[in-house]
Amino acid sequence: MSNFTIKATRAPVVGVFDSGFGGLTVLRALAEQMPTARFIFLGDTARLPYGSKSQRTIARYAAESARFLVEEQQAEYLVVACNTASALALDAIQASVAVPVLGVIEPGAEAAAQQTKTGDVMVIATEATVASHAYASACRGHGLHGIEKACPLLVPLVEEGWIEHPVTEQVVRIYLEELEAEARAAGQNPDTLVLGCTHYPLLRGVLERSVPQGVKVIDSAEATARRAAAAMAERAGTCAVETDEPHIRCFATDSVAKFERLGSRFLGQPVGTVELVDLGG
Ligand code: DGL
Repeated sequence: MSNFTIKATRAPVVGVFDSGFGGLTVLRALAEQMPTARFIFLGDTARLPYGSKSQRTIARYAAESARFLVEEQQAEYLVVACNTASALALDAIQASVAVPVLGVIEPGAEAAAQQTKTGDVMVIATEATVASHAYASACRGHGLHGIEKACPLLVPLVEEGWIEHPVTEQVVRIYLEELEAEARAAGQNPDTLVLGCTHYPLLRGVLERSVPQGVKVIDSAEATARRAAAAMAERAGTCAVETDEPHIRCFATDSVAKFERLGSRFLGQPVGTVELVDLGG
C-alpha cells in the first residue's frame, strides 16, 4: 500500500483591504466564517485616514491597494473592509481588478433591516462616508430611513488606544446625543445604530452603554463575512482545501510596528509579522 497522500497545495485566497488596521475587525469575522481560506490583509497605513479625503483620492488609493492584493498576492475575492472606500470607491475598485469585490455598506444596511422594528436607523461614520450618503441610500434600498452622523474624533481616539477612556466616553456621548436630537427633530424613532467605520467595533462597549435603552448596535463585519463565505462556497470546492500556507498574512504601507502592537486587539489574535509594502504616494 502506498503511503503517498494527496494534499491540495492551496486554499482560496481572500484579499481584505482597509485604510489601516481597523479592518482587522472584518478579517476576524471572515476568518471565523471561513476557517480554511487564506487571507491576505492590506492596511494602507501610510495614507490613513481616508475618511477626511476627497472621492478622487480615496478611489486612487483604494484601486492601488486592490491591484496589489489581486495582481501581486493572487486574491480571488476581495473584501473592502474600509467603510469609506466602500462608500466612495467601490466602482473604481471593481473596475481596477478582475475578481468579485464586496464592500461593507450593503451588508451593514441589510443587518440593520433585520434588526430594526421602527425602520429608523442611525449611522455613525467618517466625514467622507457621511458626505457620500452611501448608508442612507443603502438603507432606502431596504425601505429604511437612515440618519447619518460624522464622528471624526473617534478614529484617532481608537488609534491612540483610548478604548475604555473617560475622554472617549464623553466624546461618544456628545456625538450620540447630537445624533439622537437630529433624529427626534426629523420626527424619527431610531432603534438601531450602525457602526459605519472599521474602528467603531472596538468602541462597542462604550457605544452600547451610551445609546438609549432598546437601541441595538450593529456591526457590519459579521453580515459582510456571511456574504463573503456564501460567495466563496459557490466557487466549486473552494472551502475544503488544506494548505501549508499561513492562514492570515498582513501587509501595511507604513507603521508596521504600530500595526503589530495594536492589530491583535482588532483581530482578536496575534497578527504575527506584518510585511511592509510600498504602493507609492
Ligand atoms: N477605515 C476607515 C473607515 O472604515 C476609517 C479610517 C479612515 O478614515 O481611513 O471608514
